[in-house]
Amino acid sequence: MLYISRKEHFNAAHKLYNPTWSKEKNVEVFGPCANDHWHGHNFDLIVTVKGHPDPETGFVVDLKKLSKLIQREVTDKLDHKNINLDVDFMKDKMASCENLIVEIWKILDTQLPTITKHGKLHSLRLYETPRNYVEYFGGQ
Ligand code: NI
Repeated sequence: MLYISRKEHFNAAHKLYNPTWSKEKNVEVFGPCANDHWHGHNFDLIVTVKGHPDPETGFVVDLKKLSKLIQREVTDKLDHKNINLDVDFMKDKMASCENLIVEIWKILDTQLPTITKHGKLHSLRLYETPRNYVEYFGGQ
C-alpha cells in the first residue's frame, strides 16, 4: 500500500461563536476566535490517498487531477470566503477546523472515484496555523 499526498491552500475568515451562550461565555471559551468582526487564517489542506499503482500509469492517483478536484470541490468554495456565512457545506455548523475537516472528507470521499480507480481517501490534515492542525481518517 502506498500513500500519496497533495497540499492545497486557502485563506478564509470565521468566528467561533455559540449563539445560545452569552457574549461573556463565548469570549471565555473561544477567546479571540469569538471576535464579533471575524478573523482570518491561512489554511493548508493535505489530502492523502492510499492504494496500489495503476499498472498502465504507475500512479495511485494523478496528482494534477487530485489538485484540480480539491480546488474545484473544496478550496475554491472556501478561499477568500467567510466560513460562517458564505460556505454552503458549513451552513448551521460551528466553523471549527474539526467540523470543517469532516465536511471536506464527505466531499472528497464522494468525488475521488471520478479521478482514480485504485486510490481511496486515507486522511486529511488541515492546518489552521503552522502550529495547530487537525487530522481525520474518516469514520467515527
Ligand atoms: Ni480562528
